[in-house]
Amino acid sequence: MSAPSEAWLAYLGEPIPWRPPSPLPRTTTARLVVRPYARGDGPALFAAIDRSRAGLLPWMLWASTDHRHVEDSIHYVERHRRAYGTSSCRDYPLGIFDRTSGELVGSTGLHDVRVGTRQAEVGWWVAPSHQGKGIATEAIDGLVETAFQPVDQGGWGLRRLVVYVVTDNHPSRRVAEKVGLRLEGTLRAERFIGYPPDAPRGYVDVLAYALLAGEPRARAAP
Ligand SMILES: CC(C)(COP(=O)(O)OP(=O)(O)OC[C@H]1O[C@@H](n2cnc3c(N)ncnc32)[C@H](O)[C@@H]1OP(=O)(O)O)[C@@H](O)C(=O)NCCC(=O)NCCS
Repeated sequence: MSAPSEAWLAYLGEPIPWRPPSPLPRTTTARLVVRPYARGDGPALFAAIDRSRAGLLPWMLWASTDHRHVEDSIHYVERHRRAYGTSSCRDYPLGIFDRTSGELVGSTGLHDVRVGTRQAEVGWWVAPSHQGKGIATEAIDGLVETAFQPVDQGGWGLRRLVVYVVTDNHPSRRVAEKVGLRLEGTLRAERFIGYPPDAPRGYVDVLAYALLAGEPRARAAP
């Protein structure tokens, strides 16, 4: 068999795969800092999740099994801290912190990073005592900016962001729409919900929102 031509090798190299920026970006907004978890964040993360569990559970099933003890959250932070930025890391959970007090008020992240097409899935939650103050909208608005910023300008260098929201999760849909993500379609009976036990139980539809780098954001009115 003959050796592949240089032209064929160049063709195989496109599109340019994503590589994690170093150092990992932080996003600063008027009230918040969105940053990778660092050693020492575990107890605050556990406390926020434990207080929020009932509100997270209908939509985030991991809250029923994960972060049950403070050690789980310490381990979670340490596991991600060690993985961040390594060549195989595809999951970047990010804490949302009050810029003045440093309090952990919620969490977001760039998950399931597809290096070949430079896309990631964004998720979010905010502790109940901080909900209804525009925290999620402000944090995600800022994160979207940083996510699309080129790596050499201090950003994550991504090209496409996607968010999945259960149809009945109206607060979360509002966040996606106020940030200006575009509705791309409905994934039918894509997810199972049913916790706590008295909550509605079954397979539910999920809305897929997405945004491409450089495209205008059609933000819903506040
Ligand atoms: C969805 C969530 C992150 C919104 O956080 P938030 O910081 O309160 O959001 P914002 O203040 O930016 O407001 C977004 C919308 O949430 C809704 N909302 C906020 N607080 C609410 C409350 N206490 N009761 C009802 N709706 C509320 C409002 O509809 C608001 O839209 P509006 O400005 O048009 O009124 C939060 O409710 C949460 O953590 N929910 C549980 C986890 C979850 O569902 N995560 C998303 C999975 S896709």
